Amino acid sequence: MTKKEAQISGVATRAIHSAYTAPDGFGAFPVAIHHASTVLFDSVAAMRSRSWQDKSSYTYGLHGTPTSFTLEARLAEIEQGNHCLLVPSGLAAITLIDLALLKSGDDVLIPDNVYNPNRDLANWLSQNYGISARFYDPLIGAGIAELIQENTRLIWTEAPGSVSMEVPDIPAICAAAHARGVLVALDNTWSAGIAFPAFAHGVDIIMQALTKY
Ligand SMILES: Cc1ncc(COP(=O)(O)O)c(C=O)c1O
Repeated sequence: MTKKEAQISGVATRAIHSAYTAPDGFGAFPVAIHHASTVLFDSVAAMRSRSWQDKSSYTYGLHGTPTSFTLEARLAEIEQGNHCLLVPSGLAAITLIDLALLKSGDDVLIPDNVYNPNRDLANWLSQNYGISARFYDPLIGAGIAELIQENTRLIWTEAPGSVSMEVPDIPAICAAAHARGVLVALDNTWSAGIAFPAFAHGVDIIMQALTKY
């Protein structure tokens, strides 16, 4: 199956017919596990010409190996995202999204039933970094528009939400957010990207905790 065919097919098909190409002469399903810290280069010039953000080459084990790049590509394929970035844990992914998008003076909206360490992190950011964190009823739907302020930068969602399992109206929340230029992030851990195609419903950023699977 070509990459293009994989992208237009359903998630069940994509899960078993990925665009992954096994190495020549070893047509097995599992991807080899590559361990690395230091990566070798042919010359200093070759090392300097590479950027760690460029996934077509390797710079350092932590930045990516053939194993982790393959996993990133498979996850992006399942979620139908443009790309995926692996980090060591689900909470690290939540933290990365907050720290990448929020700065002092900004406001973030978080559903009341969110995975609790997401709430703890937001409260810690608000106590120490001048970011305001407010919590909303996960069933608020289009009513979220009334909570959006001039300084609101990010709205977290979770579908379903942790423990109490309410399912928010993601398209309504995204429509209200986007009308005000606000980004919507989704913790898609419960669906693993299989049960809920969140980008198709308007979400901007998805993270999921692979530790569950
Ligand atoms: C919904 C949800 N998001 C994020 C996480 C965090 O994942 P991790 O344990 O990999 O930090 C969890 C873990 O329980 C979770 O249930």
